[in-house]
Amino acid sequence: MKLTFYGHACFAIETNGKKLLFDPFITGNELAKDVDINKIAADYILVSHGHGDHVADLVSIAKRTGAQVIAAFEIVEWVQKQGVTNAHPMNFGPYNFDFGKLHFLPAWHSSVMPDGVYGGNPGGFLVHGAEKKFYYSGDTCLMMDMQLIPRYAKLDFAILPVGGNFTMDADDAVIAADFIKCDKIIGIHFDTFGYIKIDHQAAKDKFKAAGKELILPEIGQTITL
Ligand code: NI
Ligand code: MN
Repeated sequence: MKLTFYGHACFAIETNGKKLLFDPFITGNELAKDVDINKIAADYILVSHGHGDHVADLVSIAKRTGAQVIAAFEIVEWVQKQGVTNAHPMNFGPYNFDFGKLHFLPAWHSSVMPDGVYGGNPGGFLVHGAEKKFYYSGDTCLMMDMQLIPRYAKLDFAILPVGGNFTMDADDAVIAADFIKCDKIIGIHFDTFGYIKIDHQAAKDKFKAAGKELILPEIGQTITL
């Protein structure tokens, strides 16, 4: 299974022959200026919450690719008003898609669309893929609800924010990795803005000390998991 990182909290994962794109934010991310947004393919676009650093390119990529948008009911209403026709509204709970079962799960954060419209509750995704099972927490602080994840699935890897300030930092993410019983973490939501610049080596060392691995992907990099 391959994961391609497009910067900040935007990444794509291919599972069961389907391309899943998460939280498209490339335009406006100075660090991702070399990413060609028109080359990004998607069958599904999964949106954790409505903040601009997660939805800036949502409508344009959804329209170009025809990918199905999977998001909170309120976010789906918002994209539909902008002419996106292929969208699947959810609230917290499971649903069986053709790429596998998906749990939309709570996150402790906020969610408002860039134009001020309410975005529903912020969330994260647990993907029960045919090849691998993985969890993307979305923007969140450390929370006890993460302890439910091992009841649902034995994770192969997880994608967690590590930048702090708006989300968990590396110390919190180490505890989160314990909660979800996962030793391979891909760190995201770091370095994009001044508030979330991190020391990469220090963050990796914290995971190593806990017997875990933290991967901090380069923008544009594809990693095999
Ligand atoms: Ni956010
Ligand atoms: Mn964010």
